[in-house]
Amino acid sequence: MLSECFIFGVITFLIAGAQCQDTEVFAEAGSQAVLPCKYSSKSTVAPAILWNNGNKGTVWRKDKNGLQYWGSSWTHRARCPHSQFERGDFSLQLNDVTEQDGGIYLCRVVGDRGVTESRIVLIIIKVSVSPVVPMSGSDVSISCKVTPESHRGTVRWMLNNRPFGTAKSVVNEKASARVTGNWTCVVGYKGKEGRASATLTVKGIIHPSKDYAKLYTAVGSAITLPCVFSPGLFPVKPALEKLKPGSLFLHTPDRLPASFIASSPSSQPTSDHSATLNEVEFEDQGTYRCSGVVKGQWLTRNMQLVVAKIDSSTPSKKRDSVTLTCQLTDTSEVVDYEWVHVVHDINGTQSVESIQKGKTLSLGKVSEENQGEWTCRFYGQQGMLGNVTHHVPMMGGLSGKKSSSVSNNTTAVVGLSILLLVLLLVLVKMYLNHQRRKRILQYPALETIVHTTSNEREERERNREKK
Ligand SMILES: *[C@@H]1O[C@H](CO)[C@@H](O)[C@H](O)[C@H]1NC(C)=O
Ligand SMILES: *[C@@H]1O[C@H](CO)[C@@H](O)[C@H](O)[C@H]1NC(C)=O
Repeated sequence: MLSECFIFGVITFLIAGAQCQDTEVFAEAGSQAVLPCKYSSKSTVAPAILWNNGNKGTVWRKDKNGLQYWGSSWTHRARCPHSQFERGDFSLQLNDVTEQDGGIYLCRVVGDRGVTESRIVLIIIKVSVSPVVPMSGSDVSISCKVTPESHRGTVRWMLNNRPFGTAKSVVNEKASARVTGNWTCVVGYKGKEGRASATLTVKGIIHPSKDYAKLYTAVGSAITLPCVFSPGLFPVKPALEKLKPGSLFLHTPDRLPASFIASSPSSQPTSDHSATLNEVEFEDQGTYRCSGVVKGQWLTRNMQLVVAKIDSSTPSKKRDSVTLTCQLTDTSEVVDYEWVHVVHDINGTQSVESIQKGKTLSLGKVSEENQGEWTCRFYGQQGMLGNVTHHVPMMGGLSGKKSSSVSNNTTAVVGLSILLLVLLLVLVKMYLNHQRRKRILQYPALETIVHTTSNEREERERNREKK
């Protein structure tokens, strides 16, 4: 009798112990939560199931006779998929969960093998941003709310899938591009983790999306310099300017490129103040600034224009060969160069052949095969940044002979000119010598002439005095 009592006590203790084993289920507010409940039985007789919520009473119930009941507030949101019943799975699906759904749930299955009860704690995580869309530069707070509060555990944050170093459940920041993106709150409780996210968008300049973003372009091509504000944001004194190099802190405007076309001022207020460079020159590289005043606040975003060109040179020794060098005004992001030869076939279709890696390309002898368009593609850590194309003129083959004859002619002309010049110099020298000799011969004669005339004059005067 006593031992029976003891055994009964142990059993009740075990059952009670088992009952206290809570299962935590995390769910993000607005998503679907699945609360597990298992009951294994080989019997074909369907058991009775009861899902109960600690605060709100019955969620869903199925009697032995197959009749179902829903609690008043769960009619549309709670579901227990019958297809899983055969496997002894009586999990409850709750759709579109809210903070109020957080709490304790009980699953009670009554079958031929007795009664099982499981206790599940549904933990709702909600991330909210306030204000929903802050102005660039204003205060913003991102908060992570966990219900029930008793199950908060630890909190850590991820911003755009990278850890954001804080364990606080409310993060206060100044709205900027740095904190824009996807905020994820990771809640840890008893070794399990649940997460919820929210997106923070900041009102202000949306293009370029971050400061000092690099724009790659090639000499001669056209490019749009973006300067776009959030929709519905019409800045006062919008401007897209080029900044003087070296004026990193002063930001003095520089002369605009020759082919710069600002967006035409329209009568309608607009949030797009992008400008175009019609034909980029190598000197157009540098820092450009998009700015405007919104609600008394001056918003700016800088961008870096990187211009690429190809320098072609001919080594003095080998007249037919060409060396191409891929030049960029800023190579800080470039990790690799690749040269491709663009081939146009008879049908006009383009195809490219990857030829060589590296900044420079040496074409040993320009021939029909390797003349034409050569493109230098430059790559960054994330892939291709841009490309620049150079046209190598035909020099080998037939035109090669022509060009060499042209150069022969040039040498002939140059030689002849030098010869003529020397001849001219010799002639001039000879003429001068001749002149000099003539002068030396002339002078005594001139002297006698002067002498005789003066003698004559003296004689005449003497004669006059005598008279
Ligand atoms: C040119 O086009 C024709 C017909 O479309 C095709 O049969 C031929 O192979 C093409 N030639 C080349 C060099 O691609
Ligand atoms: C060069 O870049 C332009 C624009 O990204 C692309 O359309 C073109 O195919 C590229 N050319 C080559 C040869 O890679």
